[in-house]
Amino acid sequence: MSVIIAGTGSYLPEHVITNADFESFLDTSDEWIVGRTGMKERRYSDVEPTWKLGEHASRKALEAAGIDPMDLDMIICTTVTNDYAFPSCACMVQGALGAKNAFALDCVAACAGSVYGFDMARRYLQFDDVKTVLLVACESLSQVANFEDRNSCILFSDGAGAAVLRKGDGYYGASIHSDPDGAQHLYYKHPRRGTPFYPADAVFEGEPFIADPLGALVMNGKEVYKFATAAMPEAVEEACVRAGVAPDKLDMVLPHQANQRILETAAKRLGLPMEKICLTIERYGNNSSASVMICLDECVREGKIKTGDAICLVGFGAGLTYGAVTLEYKDS
Ligand code: COA
Repeated sequence: MSVIIAGTGSYLPEHVITNADFESFLDTSDEWIVGRTGMKERRYSDVEPTWKLGEHASRKALEAAGIDPMDLDMIICTTVTNDYAFPSCACMVQGALGAKNAFALDCVAACAGSVYGFDMARRYLQFDDVKTVLLVACESLSQVANFEDRNSCILFSDGAGAAVLRKGDGYYGASIHSDPDGAQHLYYKHPRRGTPFYPADAVFEGEPFIADPLGALVMNGKEVYKFATAAMPEAVEEACVRAGVAPDKLDMVLPHQANQRILETAAKRLGLPMEKICLTIERYGNNSSASVMICLDECVREGKIKTGDAICLVGFGAGLTYGAVTLEYKDS
């Protein structure tokens, strides 16, 4: 059983942040950022909350699929930057859309989230009580970035992508993994408030990762880079084997946009020219789980993928999580 991608949508906030904007307060340069990452611009949502980005992208996906929010049975939202600890971001999007017939839940797998969510959707769609799923990835990484760390803050961005998914036929293969061994290389820790009976700043001795004093994300770029360059091709290869498609026969790869050099290294190992790797990194930077869904929407709308194409969605990130889904693209 595979999945039909009945409609896609994306939303990028209007506020453009250029490399020159970082030069104004950090010891960095456009040349360094472009050379090391491929990024020129990213988008910040400013006052718009994460769920609102998700609502915008979802409305476009619903319109493209030609369906009403009331037709949705399930909403899966992927985010690491939910505005609320509860309710879930999926419930917030559901409320904004008025999708009253759906049940809604979040899938938290960092930058691999939308790939995990895609495979989750397929599993729910195997049973007849779920016929139409909205998968929406929305992220506001600007809200957790460390603006005193030139190594990491230049990477992250805000945005959302969505797709309406239904049960379909055609080949399908997934490779979904998490490896806690490298989790210390990328994390964001919520502050504890303490209680009237215990202080907030008390540290649990077994706590593996120490919160950043600024309340921002913590990243060891070199280690994440090493992990990503190995994990991305490994996941694509495994998903391709399971789908029965040779990696070098893929028509388009829709990857998480972490670093252009990571994507170039992976493309080489997979025997794919860069034209087959969707790139939004120069314009949007790293949108965490939304990157893959934004790529999907852009490729569908620009006709870069068409019915019958072999496509591969692939993500990797904190956890450490990584995964890929290879399938035959169909929109009906
Ligand atoms: N501007 C200028 N110089 C910078 C800089 C910046 N924004 N950030 C780091 N540097 C400096 C470093 O301080 C270092 O200087 P030094 O040699 O004097 O110590 C030098 O550039 C090289 O740093 P290094 O860490 O070796 O660079 P790199 O080639 O590994 O690139 C990253 C850094 C962060 C771009 C790269 O490691 C990366 O992309 N990692 C993956 C991160 C990621 O994808 N995270 C999200 C995963 S979902």
